[in-house]
Amino acid sequence: MEIRKAGPTDTALINSLAAMVWEPTYREILTKAQLDYMFEMMYSHASLQEQLQHKGHQFLLAQEGSSFYGFASYELNSKPGATKIHKLYVLPESQGRGVGALLLKAIEREAAAAGNTAITLNVNRFNKAFHFYTKTGFTKTGEEDIHIGNGYLMEDFIMEKQLHTL
Ligand SMILES: CC(C)(COP(=O)(O)OP(=O)(O)OC[C@H]1O[C@@H](n2cnc3c(N)ncnc32)[C@H](O)[C@@H]1OP(=O)(O)O)[C@@H](O)C(=O)NCCC(=O)NCCS
Repeated sequence: MEIRKAGPTDTALINSLAAMVWEPTYREILTKAQLDYMFEMMYSHASLQEQLQHKGHQFLLAQEGSSFYGFASYELNSKPGATKIHKLYVLPESQGRGVGALLLKAIEREAAAAGNTAITLNVNRFNKAFHFYTKTGFTKTGEEDIHIGNGYLMEDFIMEKQLHTL
């Protein structure tokens, strides 16, 4: 399996991968209306272009041959010394086989190469991905409720992992 960087020409691919994992991830946590609203906000062509070209979000794809297994996005120096993971998704049928850990390792390498010493992220308080993050060395450092418009809330844990350099 290869982890490769994605570019502006990959937005349709990222959108279609996200569409496969979005509902299974959140359907027991959020209403369908909120899911649709958030998907449009985060994965429309215009939004992905904005993230890639203006917000400094870098995207990774987990790929083997012509098959794709997951994607991630991250932002180096989102605050001094820290890289923020914005997205980390493995397709449902490929979860639990190490793809998420591979994507995370790739982000950690990029963060360390940029001189960052910590990785931060937000995860929904009811998402079982929280346990993946604790397993991979993150600790919960806080909670926040983010108003995203239309009366919708994202109820998140904030998590952080220190990168130990040799
Ligand atoms: C969370 C997610 C990215 C993890 O990726 P993955 O490929 O399924 O996880 P991996 O197989 O790499 O697991 C790495 C380790 O975490 C553990 N783990 C993974 N998911 C777990 C879970 N839900 N609960 C407890 N442990 C978990 C694995 O057992 C493994 O431990 P090991 O190294 O001792 O074997 C993936 O399951 C996913 O995409 N989930 C749905 C989308 C989502 O919620 N993304 C996060 C948004 S913030």
